[in-house]
Amino acid sequence: MNYHDILCETRGPVGIAILNRPHQLNALSTALMRELVQALEQWEADDQIGAMVIIGNDKAFAAGADIKEMQDQTFAALLLRDFPEGRGGAWTRVAAVRKPIIAAVSGYALGGGCELAMACDFIIAADNAKFGQPEITVGTMPGAGGTQRLPRLIGVAKAVEMCAGGKPVSAREAASLGLIDQLIEGDLAAGAVAFARSIAEKPVSKTRDRSEKLGSAAECAAIFATARDSVRKKQRGLLAPLAAIDAVEAATQLPFEEGCQTEARLFTECLFSDQSKALIHVFFSEREVAKIPDVPKETPALPVNRVAVVGSGTMGGGIAMVFVNAGIPVVLKDVDQAALEMGLNRIKRNYATSVQRGRFTQSYVDERLELIKPVLSYDAFFDVDMALEAVFEGMAPKKTVFAELDRACRPGAVLASNTSTLNIDEIAGATSRPESVIGTHFFSPANVMRLLEIVRGKKTSKEVIATCMQLSKKLGKIGVLVGNCRGFVGNRMFGPYRREAQFLVEEGADVAAVDEALVEFGNAMGPLATGDLAGLDVGWRIRKEYRHLEKPGVRQPFAEDRLCELGRYGQKTMKGWYQYDENRRASADPEVTTLVRTWSAEAGIPQRQISASDIVDRCIYALVNEGARILEEGYALRAADIDIIYLNGYGFPAYRGGPMWHADTVGLPKVYQRICELQLQHGELWTPAPLLKRLAEEGKTFAEYDKQQLAAA
Ligand code: NAI
Repeated sequence: MNYHDILCETRGPVGIAILNRPHQLNALSTALMRELVQALEQWEADDQIGAMVIIGNDKAFAAGADIKEMQDQTFAALLLRDFPEGRGGAWTRVAAVRKPIIAAVSGYALGGGCELAMACDFIIAADNAKFGQPEITVGTMPGAGGTQRLPRLIGVAKAVEMCAGGKPVSAREAASLGLIDQLIEGDLAAGAVAFARSIAEKPVSKTRDRSEKLGSAAECAAIFATARDSVRKKQRGLLAPLAAIDAVEAATQLPFEEGCQTEARLFTECLFSDQSKALIHVFFSEREVAKIPDVPKETPALPVNRVAVVGSGTMGGGIAMVFVNAGIPVVLKDVDQAALEMGLNRIKRNYATSVQRGRFTQSYVDERLELIKPVLSYDAFFDVDMALEAVFEGMAPKKTVFAELDRACRPGAVLASNTSTLNIDEIAGATSRPESVIGTHFFSPANVMRLLEIVRGKKTSKEVIATCMQLSKKLGKIGVLVGNCRGFVGNRMFGPYRREAQFLVEEGADVAAVDEALVEFGNAMGPLATGDLAGLDVGWRIRKEYRHLEKPGVRQPFAEDRLCELGRYGQKTMKGWYQYDENRRASADPEVTTLVRTWSAEAGIPQRQISASDIVDRCIYALVNEGARILEEGYALRAADIDIIYLNGYGFPAYRGGPMWHADTVGLPKVYQRICELQLQHGELWTPAPLLKRLAEEGKTFAEYDKQQLAAA
């Protein structure tokens, strides 16, 4: 037989099938599955062969289903063609072969790869092996026997944890759980052949027939109840983990075949769900954002081995932590000893919390702190590769600092600003080298949030862009390149979103009702609570700076500015939209309700009952409409980039794929129509974005627009 996705060889009586898609980590294409089953069934019929080994390469046994096929939706069709008995059919046939099969695992055995290993009669593994059922990260669940075999092999509690949590286990843990039969040192293929010989005469017990680890009904009930509870809290809104738990439960209640049928049904529901499509979109978009049409992969990046951070406040301190966590030494500057000490103490407190929570060891933290050099002058800036500014938000202080950096840093050093709203070109204008200036917009808390908006100025060089994009990876961030407009991408969209939240309160919605509707939608936090957390005064100051740009006659929200005038800045003053106790627990504040009602009456704003779905439409479609403008104006390269920004910087639910993907899922004609209605009710702030109008009329999606743009580039 001529195979493509596998290679076959024999060593004496042992047939060895080598999974052969090394560039895809042996992702299980339907072709690979078909070829593998054929090869094993041929050996089963071959008298010369007594046992078989399935092996991958050093990096991967098999890293799971081919997600490209899954995205194309060819996966399901191909599977049904080749294995009409369903997704688990291929591995059911592997398990039915009447000669011993040994899975020899090195590297990843994930998803369908882990299930393939479990369908074999024995698993042996190299020390670098990793076993896991991470399907929930793409909105699906194990669908080829994983939920039925895993509890039989390692017990119900751990099986639930692996299938619903998605985290893999190491070879050693797998060995102690009883998932694998032997750890192999040295050559794995040779070890597998030796193992095959050692079991040649022994009877094989099939996993499907085992039940000793399935536990009693009472034990199981407690495990499932706790697991479901935990999913509802920690993976709020996600359907796949609950489906995975249901499937493991079936393993404890039904005979093996019926359990597999239940699993197949639940798997299919997940595979065709909007959540799975959204999460697959996220999976690919995270890789896509690194691609910048006019800054090719080959663009030389500058080495960044030593950096300086100006400003040791909330952001500067967090940014310093990000760099030293990546092993890059930092010179940290502030204006005076008191400010510097405050900054350093905040960093130490943050690290102490991480040690308490077991995230870092004390010695790790000590080493990191050693890498931070606190300074009060620019003297130590002469040899840094990059300087990042994180001083107060305001054009004047930023320009002063950049002029100073221009004098203090060597030619070629990258000069970056953490500004969240200001014009990068204007800041660059304070230096003699605008080509070296770029925005690196970290999100708060900088050491936690994964997003890094990289803001390209008019003159920013391609090398500097490539440097920051690569650096983001090294720092464990996801860098997204954006253009230089007010608020860049994330905050520019956040403006209309929070504006609508305020309007809703001014029109009669309860503060808590607005937040609850958006949390119910899936957002990590409601817009008003977010304002309280970040500090309402931040936006208030920015609005004051930009007031001259406001168009006369266009409705502006007033409630938040008035709350600020009363000193209600949010959590930092214990009062904002909510009131806070000493543990920062929020509760509704009747005073706010009274105040807003009075102000609204004075402004003549009619009060009405507002439903949760109206709240969601107003806030989410405000994001979408602004996103469409940004996209058309070219400040974001792709709709997918906007999605990644919202998922990683703004707590948008990943299972909705981001605001633009969500709009595609709802259907752009429907979104457009709703925005037109809102325009009729609320005026010009709701003018539909021209791109949205066009795509809706053409029956297209933002995802299709992305593809079109890519083809044109
Ligand atoms: P902050 O007020 O906590 O810290 C500013 C620090 O800069 C203070 O320690 C101050 O002493 C120091 N500083 C001021 N002028 C200086 C100078 N000339 N040289 C050295 N140090 C100087 O402010 P925060 O919140 O850290 O914000 C910094 C920047 O980050 C701003 O541009 C802000 O817009 C941006 N940003 C803030 C976010 C937030 O959530 N706080 C999120 C993303 C960006």
